[in-house]
Amino acid sequence: MTMTAMFPGALRADAVSLSDPAAAFIASRSFDRPTLVVSRARVAAQYDALVAGLGEARIHYAVKANPAPEIIRTLVQKGARFDAASRGEIELCLGQGATGADISFGNTVKKPADIAYAHAHGVRLFAADSEAEIDKLAAHAPGCGVYLRVIVENSSADWPLSRKFGCARAALPALMDHARAKGVDVAGLSFHVGSQTRRPEFWNPVLDQIAELWHAGRAAGHDLRVLNLGGGFPATYEDEVMGPQSYAAAVMDSVRARFGAVPYIMAEPGRGLVAEAGHIVAEVLLVSRKSADDLHRWVYLDIGMFSGLAETMGEAIRYRIETPHDGAETGACILAGPSCDSADILYEQRPVMLPLALACGDRVVIRHCGAYTSSYSSVGFNGFPPLDVVVI
Ligand SMILES: Cc1ncc(COP(=O)(O)O)c(C=O)c1O
Repeated sequence: MTMTAMFPGALRADAVSLSDPAAAFIASRSFDRPTLVVSRARVAAQYDALVAGLGEARIHYAVKANPAPEIIRTLVQKGARFDAASRGEIELCLGQGATGADISFGNTVKKPADIAYAHAHGVRLFAADSEAEIDKLAAHAPGCGVYLRVIVENSSADWPLSRKFGCARAALPALMDHARAKGVDVAGLSFHVGSQTRRPEFWNPVLDQIAELWHAGRAAGHDLRVLNLGGGFPATYEDEVMGPQSYAAAVMDSVRARFGAVPYIMAEPGRGLVAEAGHIVAEVLLVSRKSADDLHRWVYLDIGMFSGLAETMGEAIRYRIETPHDGAETGACILAGPSCDSADILYEQRPVMLPLALACGDRVVIRHCGAYTSSYSSVGFNGFPPLDVVVI
């Protein structure tokens, strides 16, 4: 049976074209270990759809979502730019054919030596959210542009990203003045609406907050010309989301209505670009009950929280799971990983419905795992190897 037949309706009419090469590849092979299979063609199609929806905004792919070199090269060939979080990601992008000018250094917490490395390799756009980071940029990246990251009050996102990054809105005017005093060009502002923001209208209150700051900054004489929208573009997991083109177009309508013409708008999709391009194939290790009258079965997989499925933390990301028995009668299951760590439980608060026939040795396919899986997988925890990645 093909994966699409096993999981009818998985592909939306408004989503990219959409064949599912990763599913076809998985269906035609056997695997010894949990493996993420990602399709470059599918990443490219998703990129095209986002580009069509984003209009004048340029994509800087958030490399952290999936740093497979083949994906970076595919995106270089498509004309993408890159949001790098570290020197390692900058080296990766340069090694796959990007130029320094294609890369923004989007982490607000950087080593001085890494700032100098980036600057020496042509990176000219950096993030900051504090006076101390601006001082580092003044010292190690003379002539660079900075976008200041602001904390936004949101968050309707499934995976919020506020608090740790960004300055308080009230602190922004002083930060801009500090940068000016240090000779650092405040080119613009950035924010992150929160990852997996399932609906475009959830952006509106956040855009309102940033637009107010943007117009006030310009009125105060700062030459703001870079608006960094961050990520947040969603993927279909348990709940179906809008297709990438219509979602991005709706966000851009909201941006234009609030900001007018902006010389350079950048979007940093990670999840929305690569999640749906890949699936993880894994295996059931054990199905058991804790007692004869236990309401739930426990299903243990050979992949867990530490070997790729970190985003199940807090049950935030709810993956769809295909089994060979789909369509047959189901029952509630607690789903857990293989390690001897009691935190390695994927879904317990809201158990998953899985076929009663599910048994040890069955293959499961965890859908839409192209983002934040391989890059989160630990090296050797409990002796389990890191997630295998096959890019097709
Ligand atoms: C600075 C920055 N930009 C973009 C992203 C990508 O976000 P998403 O995967 O929601 O598109 C992240 C995610 O952590 C980020 O930290």
